[in-house]
Amino acid sequence: MSNLTHCKIGEIGKFAGQEVLIRGWLYNKRSSGKIHFLLVRDGSEILQAVMTKDSVPEKTFKAFDLLTQESSLMVSGKVREDKRAPGGYELEINEIEIIQFAKDYPITPKEHGVAFLMENRHLWLRSSRQIAILSIRNEIIFSIRKFFYDKKFVLIDTPILTSAIGETGTTLFETQYFDLGKAYLAQTGQLYVEAACMAFGNVYCFGPTFRAEKSKTRRHLTEFWMVEAEEAFYDNNDNMNLQEELIEYIVSWVLEKCQKELEVIERDTTFLKKVKRPFPRISYEEAVKLLQSKGAKIKFGEDVGGDEETILANSYDKPFCVYNYPKKIKAFYMKPHPEREDLVLNNDMLAPEGYGEIIGGSQRNDDYDSLVARIKEEKLPLEAYEWYLDLRKYGSVPHSGFGLGLERTVTWICGLPHVRESIPFPRMLYRLYP
Ligand code: 4AD
Ligand code: MG
Repeated sequence: MSNLTHCKIGEIGKFAGQEVLIRGWLYNKRSSGKIHFLLVRDGSEILQAVMTKDSVPEKTFKAFDLLTQESSLMVSGKVREDKRAPGGYELEINEIEIIQFAKDYPITPKEHGVAFLMENRHLWLRSSRQIAILSIRNEIIFSIRKFFYDKKFVLIDTPILTSAIGETGTTLFETQYFDLGKAYLAQTGQLYVEAACMAFGNVYCFGPTFRAEKSKTRRHLTEFWMVEAEEAFYDNNDNMNLQEELIEYIVSWVLEKCQKELEVIERDTTFLKKVKRPFPRISYEEAVKLLQSKGAKIKFGEDVGGDEETILANSYDKPFCVYNYPKKIKAFYMKPHPEREDLVLNNDMLAPEGYGEIIGGSQRNDDYDSLVARIKEEKLPLEAYEWYLDLRKYGSVPHSGFGLGLERTVTWICGLPHVRESIPFPRMLYRLYP
């Protein structure tokens, strides 16, 4: 059997009329007694393989009865075009070789609860829906890298073990770092891409980030992937323009490359097709008024919480920016508004259909004295930020940047009810296994 051409099911159309070898797993099977149907998956697609009593040796025909869901196997046979078969091709089986019998595979075609599926995430990954979601994630990652590569942004890998707090002291994972004191798992790569930005002009990082979020919401992970761009000589407005261009690019890429996957997960793409610039922009003050008019209890100066995000995100049919938040509720590194010292030059981008924040960005405070004052105000240890302050001493320039949460983006684009399915092995308050 092994001297036959091995072919991936996704490419089977190229082999019509030929005999090929398929290697994979049994997804499902059914029989009319005289005709046996095997549904074989190999990661690229699912293939219907058929045999009749007359077409194969008795031993092969009988192998059908033994085959269990997720048993690994090799099947050889002739590829036949058949409009009725899923995928348009069928395999006329010559031979079956079972590699390993799977006994009592826990995930059966019946409905399972989410808790059970999460506990079996290592197996759940094999289901069609999970394969489609993670394939879309793969395309989203690739489109982001391509977007920045084409724009000549340089990829800078930033450290995961860090000595300074990147965002806020409230959600830090700490560890003892030899004799050097505490190290923190990076909440952001931003401070480091700011340094690289002064070397290269335009840069980005794309890696895992960590937040000890005690919140059990549909939007929070404790480990998530973030792409963070940093741009020299960009103001807050240029920064928003770049974010909007990126989001339009990602969505159009997915619509072009992932038609099949979007169908598998039954994503209604009406709203995704509308993701074309210009996107709406409203100030924080306007957002508060809008929220109040819809019955939310938020007052000026308070942060936009999860429920309010949902209300805002249901108010638009495209992604949109909320800009110039109160300084009090935002990170120390943001540039104060030149005329309104209680505000900063920043923005969040919210995804429609109730999804909420997917991007946080800002113009950076590029003034040495005012940044030192902010670090002190936040009671952060000045020594840990000496290198960061150097960037304001040696050729400081206006610069801006933003971070896009990958899982929130995948969740929105796939229309998922919860962020947990957007990453292969989610880490959450109550989830460290598998
Ligand atoms: O708004 P955040 O906290 O911004 C930063 O970290 C900046 N340093 C980015 C920058 O300017 N370079 O986080 C950015 C994005 C959020 O909009 C959200 O999409 C995602 O990261 N995010 C999370 N995703 C999943 N789980 C969590 N706990 C998240 N926290 C933030
Ligand atoms: Mg944010």
